[in-house]
Amino acid sequence: MQLLHLDSSANHTESLSRQLTALYAETWRRAAAGAHYRHRDLVTSPIPPLNAAYCTLGRRVERRGPVPLDCVDGMIETPEERQQWASTRPLIEELRGATTLVAGVPMYNFGVPAAFKAWLDRVSFPSAFHDPRDGGSLLRDTRVVLVCTRGGAYGAGSPMAGNDFQIPYLRAYLAHAGVREEHLRVVEVELTAAELLPHLAAYRSRAAESLASARAQVIALAREHGR
Ligand SMILES: Cc1cc2nc3c(=O)[nH]c(=O)nc-3n(C[C@H](O)[C@H](O)[C@H](O)COP(=O)(O)O)c2cc1C
Repeated sequence: MQLLHLDSSANHTESLSRQLTALYAETWRRAAAGAHYRHRDLVTSPIPPLNAAYCTLGRRVERRGPVPLDCVDGMIETPEERQQWASTRPLIEELRGATTLVAGVPMYNFGVPAAFKAWLDRVSFPSAFHDPRDGGSLLRDTRVVLVCTRGGAYGAGSPMAGNDFQIPYLRAYLAHAGVREEHLRVVEVELTAAELLPHLAAYRSRAAESLASARAQVIALAREHGR
């Protein structure tokens, strides 16, 4: 069993997604004593944005069809491509090796933080998740827990419901990458800005309920997944 723990909130001191992913990781590690654990902070150790060499190598690999990662080494033609592959392959291997991924992904400007998107773009290299033996997804058995915080409320029927490009986007991406729906859990924390903004003061108790529910969900999921 291996847990990969990602954080992408730029806020280090008061981040709720960081608190909740840490709670998940602590609980999981207690339940799965001795199992492998890796924490990657996408803010303090940012993933470099993609460049031309990444795209050139990616297109060459894509043209060949799904290949084992070792084959990519033999397809590199320039030092820039080698450098790009060197900063990509370990991230792919880290994700492929994880039995469970827990990621803190706040809503930033209706979408996901650039720090998280940089990771997602880089690990989505051609052949990254394809089993070359049968073309299936190597993420089909991976469990994924997303902790999605947002300052406002985007539930069905709320005035902002149509502006949620965070959770629907993450669900669409993971489904496309081959993560099975029954393996995906999204823990949502809404109205986190209610404590801060006077015009949202009326929503403080709803925000507190949302956070308490998220804490309970995180603990229950971590206990179940760490067994
Ligand atoms: C750059 C930035 C953009 C944000 N954009 C939105 C937004 O579009 N909608 C929203 O509801 N909250 C937005 N927020 C509020 C965050 O989603 C909220 O504070 C959340 O709790 C952040 O996660 P964290 O507590 O883990 O840091 C934004 C916050 C920041 C820093």
